[in-house]
Amino acid sequence: MKFFIDTADVEEIRKAHAMGVLDGVTTNPSLLAKVGRGLEETIREICSIVDGPVSAECVSADAPELIKEGKGLAKIHDNVVVKVPMGVEGLKAVKALTAEGIRTNVTLCFSANQALLAAKAGATYISPFVGRLDDISQDGMELIAHIIEIYQNYDFTTQVLVASVRNPVHVLQAARMGADVATLPYSVIAQLAQHPLTDIGIKKFLSDWEKVPKSAKP
Ligand code: E4P
Repeated sequence: MKFFIDTADVEEIRKAHAMGVLDGVTTNPSLLAKVGRGLEETIREICSIVDGPVSAECVSADAPELIKEGKGLAKIHDNVVVKVPMGVEGLKAVKALTAEGIRTNVTLCFSANQALLAAKAGATYISPFVGRLDDISQDGMELIAHIIEIYQNYDFTTQVLVASVRNPVHVLQAARMGADVATLPYSVIAQLAQHPLTDIGIKKFLSDWEKVPKSAKP
């Protein structure tokens, strides 16, 4: 299972990269607004840190504009994956960009039928937003199970990229279901490494080590 980080904050990206667990990055307009930097400059810097897929999102409304914008984003760096919002115009753009050899990530997916359409249009990744579904009392992870089942039924190669992840339970469930990728906020990546028994164990080992005579230590 691949881990992407869901942020435009290069310091968070550097920290996750240093942990040795990072396979890629996803950004969106809200995450870019948070860091207050230009898209191109930020994406270039991210690509200099992580050698993996980096999603940059289109903000155009119709297919011709989405295609133009997507081609421009793809030119920033070879690792850029063009993020296209789900919808009729988005699907047309995915089809056209895919035909040009440009990788796409269909975002804002909230149903299995949307995921089916994205796969048929040739999307490289589908991003179902599990946390936002949970927020409205729908089971986000059930959507992931349905999409994986459908993609396996028809041997689609579109990768399931679990997005809007809010906690380690989402990650555990995604991994058990065999999702290809999860994109995680830095806080969730850090949480994955923690366990109270690990902290207690380290404290005990260190205090016991103090009791070992100096002469017996290397
Ligand atoms: C995915 O690519 C999106 O950037 C992201 O996961 C959205 O998450 P949110 O619902 O926490 O904003």
